[in-house]
Amino acid sequence: MTMQKKLAVQSLQWTGQALKVLDQRQLPGKLAYDEYTDASGVAEAIASMRVRGAPAIGIAAAYGVVLSAMQHCRGDGGSGWQQQVAADIERLAASRPTAVNLFWALQHMQEVLAGHPKDPVAALLACAEQIHADDVAANYAMGELGADILADAQGVLTHCNAGALATGGYGTALGVIRSAYQRRPISVYAGETRPWLQGARLTVWELAQDGIAATLIADSAAAWLMKSGKIDWVVVGADRIAVNGDAANKIGTYSLAVLAKQHGVKLMVAAPMSTIDWNMETGDGIEIEQRSIAELLPEAYRDSNNPLVNAWNPVFDVTPAALIDAIVTERGVVLNPAGQGVRGLKHAD
Ligand code: MRU
Repeated sequence: MTMQKKLAVQSLQWTGQALKVLDQRQLPGKLAYDEYTDASGVAEAIASMRVRGAPAIGIAAAYGVVLSAMQHCRGDGGSGWQQQVAADIERLAASRPTAVNLFWALQHMQEVLAGHPKDPVAALLACAEQIHADDVAANYAMGELGADILADAQGVLTHCNAGALATGGYGTALGVIRSAYQRRPISVYAGETRPWLQGARLTVWELAQDGIAATLIADSAAAWLMKSGKIDWVVVGADRIAVNGDAANKIGTYSLAVLAKQHGVKLMVAAPMSTIDWNMETGDGIEIEQRSIAELLPEAYRDSNNPLVNAWNPVFDVTPAALIDAIVTERGVVLNPAGQGVRGLKHAD
């Protein structure tokens, strides 16, 4: 096992009274944390992309429920607070639609609430901290399993940011790349990931914090990079994995999967078990978040009197299992998931 060294960067920190959230929108220029003392603030931090990445969104939401209970429940047996906490949970659930980790974490918190009808704060906090710690542990486990698969790889391409910033720490796809790099330096390429530029602003910055050299490419350079023979694997995270192995991830992942097939490059999806949606049989049912067209359109076109220039801004896509070579979770690896899906992981040790 890799030694769990101190995490280079943490997107979420619990202070005892508040949740500190690294404002990822300001990276790499500025390392600035905002402090939240209520669930509405946390929901807004998620919706506005201060915190992003499926596991980090789930962890933030769990702490958001703790803050809600701290605010509304005084532990004196008073009534009414349950409705206020329920409304906050709805607010958190509405913050973003695609990452299933959000709903998974809220479900856990609701179960704890139901089990502690008088004074739930301590139990909720214990649960949120456990979700956070488990995510870090899962990332280290995935890192080792994924690095085994990359044993002979010379170069990898990653997309979006699936690193410490997007998780409790260490990262899913970047955890695999970190672990592989510790064993033997490999060439790491990162796609810039339009329109939010998670690759350019977050991934290469985060890797540099760890002394891992990375080469940024325009998203549109991926086919040519593959054609050059410089990469063996595309390694990405996921926002939701369906039972049949279809995987939703940042828009552009599906394009990379199609390109990879054409060029004989393999595709690895690394994600914790909390990213598997056991209620979603195939990727067809996954809700794809559509964000504002203002994220795409140059300002000069944003005039509502000009109906001829529009934009379409889906921020996730679904890669069919048939294009995925390996799904790596902390519970084990599924090679060639087409057909079997991830069912075998459900009760695996
Ligand atoms: O819109 P974002 O930045 O929240 O999208 C994040 C991604 O798509 C990540 O690749 C995914 O959540 C995996 S993070 C470990």
